[in-house]
Amino acid sequence: MFYRPARAYIHLPALRHNLKIAKTFAPNSKILAVVKANGYGHGICRVAQQLVGADGFGVASMDEALQLRQKGFLHRILLLEGLFSEVELPLAIQNRLDIVVHSEHQLQWLLAYQTRTIMTIWLKIDTGMHRLGFSVDQVPSVIQRLEQNLNSFQVHLMSHLASADEQNSTAIEFTQKQINAFRQVTEKFSFSKSLNNSAGLQAYESSNYDWVRPGILLYGAGQPLDSPNTLTQLKPVMRLESEVIAIKWVNAGEFVGYGNDWQATEETCIAIIAIGYGDGYPRHAKTGTPVLIHGKRVPLIGRVSMDMITVDITKYSREIQIGSLVTLWGGALSVDEIAKHANTISYELLCGITSRVPMIEIQ
Ligand SMILES: Cc1ncc(COP(=O)(O)O)c(C=O)c1O
Repeated sequence: MFYRPARAYIHLPALRHNLKIAKTFAPNSKILAVVKANGYGHGICRVAQQLVGADGFGVASMDEALQLRQKGFLHRILLLEGLFSEVELPLAIQNRLDIVVHSEHQLQWLLAYQTRTIMTIWLKIDTGMHRLGFSVDQVPSVIQRLEQNLNSFQVHLMSHLASADEQNSTAIEFTQKQINAFRQVTEKFSFSKSLNNSAGLQAYESSNYDWVRPGILLYGAGQPLDSPNTLTQLKPVMRLESEVIAIKWVNAGEFVGYGNDWQATEETCIAIIAIGYGDGYPRHAKTGTPVLIHGKRVPLIGRVSMDMITVDITKYSREIQIGSLVTLWGGALSVDEIAKHANTISYELLCGITSRVPMIEIQ
């Protein structure tokens, strides 16, 4: 029983729908559904259950991979950052996990280990993001060392795009450079290849290769605000809701909230809503961030508190009451839009829902 009205509804059919959309963008590629960070905050097993039609799952750690294995998922599971320590290697082999190999120290663990099992590894190539991966120049010698080793490896080649979600000409040029670098370094090898994330598979379809690795797209987010979900027909999976718990009028000149951050310029009706940064609503959401009450967009005013926010409902003061249902994001209010108002990205908001918010599945 939960007495507080803040809730995150997880629309399960939307996950299946978004997977289908991913497939229409990459009809000739296999799909590695990225479910790391607890399924981008939606619950890793809950998400995986809906995405059983994917060809594999991408996770960030052994712990996440084992959660999936323990629930009986037999899919290919890729450790996207590979092993953090060599003690994980026997566990990875025992659980049939695919392993990213991004650095020399990880490579040495694999080369030195003795096993008869064929290890499936995804060699990560740094094509310009400069986070993880072997440099383009290192790739041929790394492959040679793998081939000469006593162990047997099934090799995939992968890289990651840094700016595929940005549409300005500098970002497009950079992405194109990464795509070209990946093509050049991998074309002489017949291994299976993977480059695109959600943004990449939508915007750069010709580099979808054998595997695409969508994450945010599956959750119905990460869409540029000028080409919203209606274009790609993605459906938001999470809807964050709460209720109005108080309503009051303030006179011109009066302040609302912590730090007296907002001052009324005229008589204003405000509604107080039971949601705050203690739930994962972003504290940096600015005055003006939209909130939906009974389908009407009203602006956030003043600072976000731990458990509450305040909104200006002067225009709808007759319709909105205590107990009125509020949507913070999801449904008709894109989480990307809220993220923009809070100077962040939808990923962070979705991952950031705290444990005190009940998650309710919608079948
Ligand atoms: C290696 C890798 N591939 C794919 C993804 C999925 O990215 P997105 O959620 O932007 O589709 C991620 C996420 O960060 C990643 O790290």
